[in-house]
Amino acid sequence: MAAVSFRNVRKVFGETVSIPSLDLDIRDGEFVCLLGPSGCGKTTTLRMLAGLEQPTSGAIHIGGQQVHELPPAKRDIAMVFQSYALYPHLTVAENIVYPLKKRGVPKGEWPAMLASIAQLLQLEPLLARKPKQLSGGQQQRVALGRALIRKPKVFLLDEPLSNLDAKLRAHMRAELIELHRRIGTTTVYVTHDQLEAMTMSTRIAVMNGGVLQQFGTPDEIYYRPANQFVAGFIGTPAMSLIDGDMQRDDHGFSVRAGGLLLRLPNSALRGDAAREVAIGLRPEDIVLGRGAHSARIKVVEPTGHESIVLMECGGATLCTRIASDVPLAAELRAGQDVPFDVTLARVHVFCRQSGLRQNRDDVNVTAIKRTRDAA
Ligand SMILES: Nc1ncnc2c1ncn2[C@@H]1O[C@H](COP(=O)(O)OP(=O)(O)O)[C@@H](O)[C@H]1O
Ligand SMILES: [Mg+2]
Repeated sequence: MAAVSFRNVRKVFGETVSIPSLDLDIRDGEFVCLLGPSGCGKTTTLRMLAGLEQPTSGAIHIGGQQVHELPPAKRDIAMVFQSYALYPHLTVAENIVYPLKKRGVPKGEWPAMLASIAQLLQLEPLLARKPKQLSGGQQQRVALGRALIRKPKVFLLDEPLSNLDAKLRAHMRAELIELHRRIGTTTVYVTHDQLEAMTMSTRIAVMNGGVLQQFGTPDEIYYRPANQFVAGFIGTPAMSLIDGDMQRDDHGFSVRAGGLLLRLPNSALRGDAAREVAIGLRPEDIVLGRGAHSARIKVVEPTGHESIVLMECGGATLCTRIASDVPLAAELRAGQDVPFDVTLARVHVFCRQSGLRQNRDDVNVTAIKRTRDAA
């Protein structure tokens, strides 16, 4: 097991600056997701850690050892890709022990190592099969087994579940969480799927355009997005972001945005908060049926246990959700005006120019999370 650090790491491909300068510290035993839209530099970052790409400049350390000049085989890492390419002519057992052969581990040690991996991943009944006799999920488990049999210091995965169907993906997600809990190996997991990142990570590194936007726990990323990009990227349906103007008086701040006038206490925002802002409201923080504000319903989308409601308010589009078992949910129709309230303690405020969060975040994130319960 080992900690991982990127220090001032830059990667340029020809004319393209893929990663301008990355600093990232992953603790020993963490499960970190690199999350971001396609092309944001996740794979490049992982490949530099694996040794499959050389950084243009900067330093990478694994377990305190500088590795960025070492070849992949000397780094004590294991990697699983989206296309996990098992050897079709070899059995499951032969596939799993393959890396041992390649690295010259004495043959006498293989059976015990194979047995422990097969048990860990529940592959015992499948050891004699060929890959084509396995389901997608079983093949993925064999690929994991092949990667883990050497007990690597760091385990790297690049979108390993994206070839699986939704149900199997959810199942494998749970298996990976459980697997990490048992083996505790430092894991770096690349995904563009925020659900995977939110459910599996100890911390998430959100990237955009090669730049790290925020590195924090799933709760920090969700309840305290560092900037407008993270705010808009995390959360389904996405947070409503509305441009507005902010004024400060003796009592606090008043923000006009769309058809909303929100009054926030002095303690809510930084003293030097910008005047030109965008406010962010998560769907669950807009509460329908009562309150000082009003909006016109545009669309009601039932999804089963809840409905997603799109509304128009002073030119701004608001997205909210309402549980299906609330009587009001059955009455909502497009074209109707509905009153609503906003959970003020959860209003996000961003500087329109820099995109940076303007909220004062000295409150414990767990306290913010519980605001709703208290309200
Ligand atoms: N071998 C390469 N040659 C040129 N450009 C590359 C190469 N690999 C990646 N890039 C560029 O670097 C950026 C980041 O790519 P990548 O790390 O694959 O993104 P992600 O995995 O987040 O989708 C993209 O703009 C991509 O086109
Ligand atoms: Mg990629």
